[in-house]
Amino acid sequence: MTSGGPVGDAREPCAPWKGRRLVLGVCGGIAAYKSVQLARDLTLLGATVDVVLTGSARNFVAPLSFEGVTGRGALTDLFSVEGAALHVSLGREADCVCIAPATADFIARAASGRASDLLTTAVVASGAPVVVAPAMNDSMFAHPRTQANLARLEASPRYHRVGPATGLLAAGEGSGPGRMAEPGEVVDAVGRVMGSGGALSGARVVVTGGPTREPIDPVRYLGNRSSGKMGVALARTAWLRGAEVTLVTGPASVPLPDGMEVVRVETARQMRDAVLALAGEADAAVFAAAVADYRPREVKSGKIKRSEAGNSLTVGFTANPDIAAGAVARMKAGSVSVGFALETSDLVARAEAKLAAKGLDLIVANRAGEDGAGFEADTNRVTILGRGVAPRELPLMDKFAVAWEITGLIEARLGKGGGVVRTGHPHRKSAGAARRQPE
Ligand code: C5P
Repeated sequence: MTSGGPVGDAREPCAPWKGRRLVLGVCGGIAAYKSVQLARDLTLLGATVDVVLTGSARNFVAPLSFEGVTGRGALTDLFSVEGAALHVSLGREADCVCIAPATADFIARAASGRASDLLTTAVVASGAPVVVAPAMNDSMFAHPRTQANLARLEASPRYHRVGPATGLLAAGEGSGPGRMAEPGEVVDAVGRVMGSGGALSGARVVVTGGPTREPIDPVRYLGNRSSGKMGVALARTAWLRGAEVTLVTGPASVPLPDGMEVVRVETARQMRDAVLALAGEADAAVFAAAVADYRPREVKSGKIKRSEAGNSLTVGFTANPDIAAGAVARMKAGSVSVGFALETSDLVARAEAKLAAKGLDLIVANRAGEDGAGFEADTNRVTILGRGVAPRELPLMDKFAVAWEITGLIEARLGKGGGVVRTGHPHRKSAGAARRQPE
């Protein structure tokens, strides 16, 4: 999934991986320059990141670069007092090991269980899941030995591959498959592996997002200012928590995630059809779309012309179906539903009324017109209400952080209900440091 990197310039720092420990292994390839950004992004998300460089990685990038962004000493040497003490503890304490870039040589060594330097020793000593981001020249990547080694790693439930991408390789090497996945994609892969231990792991989650467009004539429509950012953030955070996500979105003005099913719709009725088809199977649904309450009663087949309509035009409207209410009625027992309420006054009272009227479990209320919140903004300030619980007011936060909180509440509710019947799902094999992964 490539939408959005980690957190933006949130007012309230979002550290979803606070308390998590990561080992970032950097091998000797030109893509190592991207790993500094990766180390920074992972650190900004709250993780404690220990960087281990292979000997050849140091030809491309200096330990000091990583120390600057992680605030921790980067490690290189197995045969030192430090290395000898660390080679076991590093891997043992890690929730996830990420190797980026992973060279053909590292992949070969890992596939045969070698422990010939600090990085491979830590991998062998660890039971944590390993995310591997291969990066090499395309002919090295295509080599049957490399492919066989990769296949051997991937046959193990412990290993998760991200990339490589196809594109321009290092200067003069042309283009082909072998380019390291971008840091944002590697962050997402690590995040999903680390986040997949909870109740959302394997759960089916439906998210609605964006505006709807209701046609008036072939060239005009009735729309609203929703950007789709909140829906994308919700879909992304549910995915990072291990869910099988379907995002049903109106025409959003932000890039849509590509690691999950995305259903693009225009009108409220198209959105309703898509959501109702999914509702019965959903373990959770979040209705973040700004659905038009009304649509023109009649869609003109030809463009309305001023020369014919004159100086005044009256358009009759009819009510759209309530997607959230309709979907909630179809959702199974033990599932969790979350709505949004954008209000200009009486925020809490109105949101509570909608919570009850639509049969939702939770509702996220925000005030229209507040600076840095609501439509189009990157941030939001919300109050979360639920049946039988006290309202929870959150500070101004990045939409990713707000979405992380909301999906955390869904996870907690599903965990209590224990209602998710899990399907076979590749990321459920990751469980963090506590459980040793089979090789
Ligand atoms: O009643 P109101 O439009 O304010 O309700 C907002 C909540 O209901 C949101 O969760 C929104 O996505 C959802 N909704 C819906 N279908 C509609 C109108 C709103 O799903 N037609």
